[in-house]
Amino acid sequence: MQGPLKSLLYVSRCTAPLDDDQIFRLYKTSVENNAIDGITGVLIHDGNVFLQLLEGGDNAVTAMMARLGRDPRHCAIQVRDERVIEQRSFGTWNMKLLKIDRAHMAAVTNLEDDFGPSVAPEIRQLIIDTLHEISSAD
Ligand SMILES: Cc1cc2nc3c(=O)[nH]c(=O)nc-3n(C[C@H](O)[C@H](O)[C@H](O)COP(=O)(O)O)c2cc1C
Repeated sequence: MQGPLKSLLYVSRCTAPLDDDQIFRLYKTSVENNAIDGITGVLIHDGNVFLQLLEGGDNAVTAMMARLGRDPRHCAIQVRDERVIEQRSFGTWNMKLLKIDRAHMAAVTNLEDDFGPSVAPEIRQLIIDTLHEISSAD
């Protein structure tokens, strides 16, 4: 792995709403590529907005963000958090996929059942706080 291990969380908006099939195709490509790139993480969506947390080597995450920036399926990418980490929270998932309806985003208070004990509490809280922010935007 090149560079320190880091995690990056961003939110973005779908250019056009994606149905479950389109999301699943995107997810399959992501899992395959991420296994090669040493990237793990979680992708949360409601069909209209995305929240993605990427974990991996500094260079791999930077290269992934460049690819994501060119992807016409989403726009308005906002990096919300970037930090060096000691260990991965999502080490067993090359990309965990979680659908949460917009109406439920505000009500999420605990993702422990979805994530299990491997996810660091501060990362879980960061994701919950960001979900609350997205749910109250526009
Ligand atoms: C919200 C969202 C999340 C994505 N997550 C990943 C990912 O985790 N890994 C990945 O390889 N591609 C992901 N992609 C797809 C990439 O943007 C890109 O299409 C794919 O990596 C192929 O890149 P390339 O055509 O430049 O080779 C995602 C796309 C979107 C819209």
